Amino acid sequence: MQDELLTTAAPTPSRQEEPPSRTRPERGEELELTIDSLAFGGEGVARWGEGGYVVFVAGAIPGDHVRAVVHKRKRSYAHARTVEVLAAGPERIDPLAQHPGVPWQVLPYERQVEIKQDQLAEALRRIGGLEGFLLEETIPARERWRYRNKLEYSFGEDPKTGELLCGFHASGGWKRVEPITDCLLASERGNLARELTLQWCRGQRLGAWDRHRENVGTGTALLRNLVVREGRNAGLLQIRLVTTPGEVDVDSLASVLAAELGAEHLSGVLWTRSTALAETTAGGETDLVWGEEALPERLGELDLRISAEAFFQTNTEMAQELYGLASSYAALQGWERVFDLYCGTGTIALTLAPRAGEVWGIELVEQAVADAIAAAKRNEITNASFFAGDTRLALPELVERAGRPDVVVVDPPRAGLSQKVVRRIIDAAPKRIVYVSCNPTTLAPNAAQLVEAGWRLIKVRGVDMFPQTPHIECVALLERRKH
Ligand SMILES: C[S@@+](CC[C@H](N)C(=O)[O-])C[C@H]1O[C@@H](n2cnc3c(N)ncnc32)[C@H](O)[C@@H]1O
Repeated sequence: MQDELLTTAAPTPSRQEEPPSRTRPERGEELELTIDSLAFGGEGVARWGEGGYVVFVAGAIPGDHVRAVVHKRKRSYAHARTVEVLAAGPERIDPLAQHPGVPWQVLPYERQVEIKQDQLAEALRRIGGLEGFLLEETIPARERWRYRNKLEYSFGEDPKTGELLCGFHASGGWKRVEPITDCLLASERGNLARELTLQWCRGQRLGAWDRHRENVGTGTALLRNLVVREGRNAGLLQIRLVTTPGEVDVDSLASVLAAELGAEHLSGVLWTRSTALAETTAGGETDLVWGEEALPERLGELDLRISAEAFFQTNTEMAQELYGLASSYAALQGWERVFDLYCGTGTIALTLAPRAGEVWGIELVEQAVADAIAAAKRNEITNASFFAGDTRLALPELVERAGRPDVVVVDPPRAGLSQKVVRRIIDAAPKRIVYVSCNPTTLAPNAAQLVEAGWRLIKVRGVDMFPQTPHIECVALLERRKH
């Protein structure tokens, strides 16, 4: 949905050289385009031909004149990838990182934040039809680089030399892995952990798993992914090697990592064997090879342990800002019953617990729920309870068991809340809803449904968790109108 939505800044169609008489370009065709604006999701938006056919262009920003190749074509729009920037737009700056995940690094950081603020307003007004709320100024990131506490790398092979590589899939080229030597989103220590693992894999003569190859999962071509997670405040790393099932001397990998990184900086080494056809680091069978199963971390006053399968906000420093904002929007006085839906390891509920009467969390991933329960105990928080379940089914059960909530906090995945879940929240009738969203284009229709049902959107504020990328995180406060 987001790709098809233009920003308000969208433009008068730009004039292309030699306007073609066709109304749509072909797949695989190269076009010369001038970018007018940025779409949700971060692609540049250009118009092609006399009819102003819309082309979303990856790797381009407003004002750029680019050569781009069409890789997907629909009736009313196409997606293209920049092949060459023929003339740079006025705001373009030199990129710092060789990284497919940071397309906005060519924009000055202040502009990135401004655009995110505009896109947030745009989503709420245009998609949600929402008016009359306060849009607070977006909180900028504290660190513009090296802010991620979790990196998932892929293994691949150099197409010419066959050398084992560890890096990211090239944008638009899922079969190819681009090696990386210094990932500017990861800490230096996280980079070192990846390099040590890669050298060790090369020494062991292990190869990359490739589901397109005939020998998939046989012999030594086992390596799928490397997950490097970091407890930033605790100063600890967790390394998880993901392979297809087979023989791997993971004990020797753990010895190398402990010796080279320093055992005091390594919390655990894990090994996941996965038979999934898709490239995913979730699922499979995970064994602890060295150290502790869960990654220790501190967040504010909280002493946490995060399991490999559990979600944790990927920008630790900004997670504290996010939770601080959610907490101020919740405006608790000490007596309220609070539900934290989609609670992950319970971090929001546990942050709110000292200012609430009681907090209850619901989360789908059992490991995360176990982490939340253990964290409540470890931090001596006695008014917090957590349950594993799908919010849609578990929420009505929780209302029956605990009573109606005064405040509901929701923090769903990018897809937002289904209409059914919104109806369950409406049935639960909280006075206040604090909606933490990583996607304003799904927040907007959810908020509109709540407004329709009797809540008022009071205020919204962005928190920049993901500098150099188009991702927008925000918190919204809705209050029930008096009956
Ligand atoms: C964006 S994360 C938020 C987690 C947590 N609030 C935090 O800040 O760490 C969304 C969480 O929703 C969980 N989830 C996804 N679908 C769910 C569902 N249907 N019911 C309950 N939880 C779900 C995911 O496992 C994930 O932990």
